[in-house]
Amino acid sequence: MDLELDGNVALVTASSSGLGYASAKALVREAAHIVINGRDADELKSAAEDLREVAAGNAQVVPIQADLTQPDDITKLVTETVEEFGRLDHLVTSAGGPPSGAFLDTDDEDWYAAYELLVMSVVRLCREAVDPLADDGGGTIVNITSRSVKEAIDSLVLSNSVRMSVIGLEKTLSKEYAPDIRANAVLPGPHETSRIEDLIHQAIERGEYNSYKEGLAARGEGIPIERIGDPIELGNTVAFLSSPKSGYINGQAIVIDGGAGSSNL
Ligand SMILES: NC(=O)c1ccc[n+]([C@@H]2O[C@H](COP(=O)([O-])OP(=O)(O)OC[C@H]3O[C@@H](n4cnc5c(N)ncnc54)[C@H](OP(=O)(O)O)[C@@H]3O)[C@@H](O)[C@H]2O)c1
Repeated sequence: MDLELDGNVALVTASSSGLGYASAKALVREAAHIVINGRDADELKSAAEDLREVAAGNAQVVPIQADLTQPDDITKLVTETVEEFGRLDHLVTSAGGPPSGAFLDTDDEDWYAAYELLVMSVVRLCREAVDPLADDGGGTIVNITSRSVKEAIDSLVLSNSVRMSVIGLEKTLSKEYAPDIRANAVLPGPHETSRIEDLIHQAIERGEYNSYKEGLAARGEGIPIERIGDPIELGNTVAFLSSPKSGYINGQAIVIDGGAGSSNL
């Protein structure tokens, strides 16, 4: 299916690795121009080179270094994207994850830091992006969050609590800015990103598994699809939600977890 993204411009944050990278990859394979982002300049450069290898058509890949916890960096990120391409059609927000821990493991600083990274980054990105997104025929926002907004996950009090605000924002934007902008969220369960890979390698060193394959299989136990996700599967969903092919999907929060969750809604 042609997603009709050829020549569109997408800004994908926190995308030098992980789920942001996979989303950028899915978009550039559809010939959309992409701006990718991260803090580490070398990681960003390397990711941009890899993405250029898979770019379809004339799609360009532009890396912009920015820290999503810094308001000025966010302004620069959106402004430079629009200056580079003269337009913005799609915003995909991702960010690193907050530390794990039980309630009494966290102090005020942890809560405010999680809020800055996971909520205020999205607030500021959307504030900067809505006008250019609404121009030139409209655009889309996809927020990458977590399945923790549907069902609380043990030992992730910060994720369980703070991420709910992103859904409130996304739903509000989907009403305030429709039909010019559609806003949706994706809520991932475990995917095989470098964090999961590191955790499996650490478990092998502790003697819990004999091989990476065994550790990976263990992570898929209890998931109806019988494995954790491939990041590109999430990226493909982000590309679909950015595409006019999903033109009647607006204000939704879509869980991508292989059916692991038990919520009816
Ligand atoms: N992966 C999963 O299985 C999974 C499951 C559920 C929810 N999630 C959530 O989904 C989101 C994306 O997941 P992920 O696995 O891709 O996370 P990740 O691996 O932590 O994200 C890595 C990317 O984020 C960038 N990044 C981190 N902090 C940043 C900052 N302050 N400013 C700019 N870029 C920043 C990193 O680049 P630099 O380090 O160079 O800045 C890198 O490009 C996270 O919120 C995560 O908690 C992930």
